[in-house]
Amino acid sequence: MSTRHFLTLLDFTPAELQQLLQRAIQLKAMRNAGEVYEPFKNRVMAMIFEKASTRTRVSFEAGMAQFGGHAMFLSPRDTQLGRGEPIEDSARVISSMVDIVMIRTFSHSTVETFAAHSSVPVINALTDDFHPCQLLADMQTFQELRGSIQGKTVAWVGDGNNMCHSYINAARQFDFRLNIACPEGFEPRADLVARNADRVSLVESPEEAVRQADLVVTDVWASMGQEKEQRERIREFRGYQVSPALMDLATQDALFMHCLPAHRGEEVSEDMLDDPRCVCFPEAENRLHAQKALIEFLLQDLIIRR
Ligand code: CP
Ligand code: NVA
Repeated sequence: MSTRHFLTLLDFTPAELQQLLQRAIQLKAMRNAGEVYEPFKNRVMAMIFEKASTRTRVSFEAGMAQFGGHAMFLSPRDTQLGRGEPIEDSARVISSMVDIVMIRTFSHSTVETFAAHSSVPVINALTDDFHPCQLLADMQTFQELRGSIQGKTVAWVGDGNNMCHSYINAARQFDFRLNIACPEGFEPRADLVARNADRVSLVESPEEAVRQADLVVTDVWASMGQEKEQRERIREFRGYQVSPALMDLATQDALFMHCLPAHRGEEVSEDMLDDPRCVCFPEAENRLHAQKALIEFLLQDLIIRR
């Protein structure tokens, strides 16, 4: 069988994604019980970061260590990637020496090119267009706290960015309704919205999006690479802040998620992350468990069975 990659949520079937979430929950319980599980002794992950990261780096690196393997941090600053070595050549070389690759880049096409020339599985750890690993953690968190998300309503408030695009894919793969409220000019990609028109709607206001929502999600107003637009975006996004008052319009047991890092006073009010409906810290922790399930899935042929 050809090498499987995880570049967007659409690379896996809905059944595989469900299986992954169940496994993530199991791996979390095993870790919490102190069980040592090292199926990937001597296996190596290359982690390529063109952009900054806290959660993604720590979770992949810790996950590989817990699995008995090793993760190697590579940045363009100190590899030939930053000096113009073609992605195609880098992919052939790096994948000949490691068992799996995780890559965070600006352009989504960089990840696709890397995967096309890699002999080992490649994981998209965020591009300008998608952040599928975050969605695994988000879906795990909802499943743990509220059960299946199938048939529920999710509200996306803010920028139509990489996280929003991955929520659109998630709406399709996990079968929920998604209401998206973005300021004019900051909507998600029209092709993605059109392709999922049966379950995704663009609505006028955050209030309308959140009404009857079981989950409310937002993200920063200026993503990595958009730092120069920060001030203008703060002006444009006024009125799109998620606060406890906005959450009051959602269902009674609605949850609030944010992939973090968050900017208090911008996309979230000063008090939103302290609100009992906010689950962004368990959500962040689940990056570890969900990605361990992902690594195990992609490397299933290499598992050391005792
Ligand atoms: N949510 C997320 O991907 O965080 P980092 O940028 O810190 O990895
Ligand atoms: N949309 C944000 C997500 C960070 C995890 C960014 O791309 O910077």
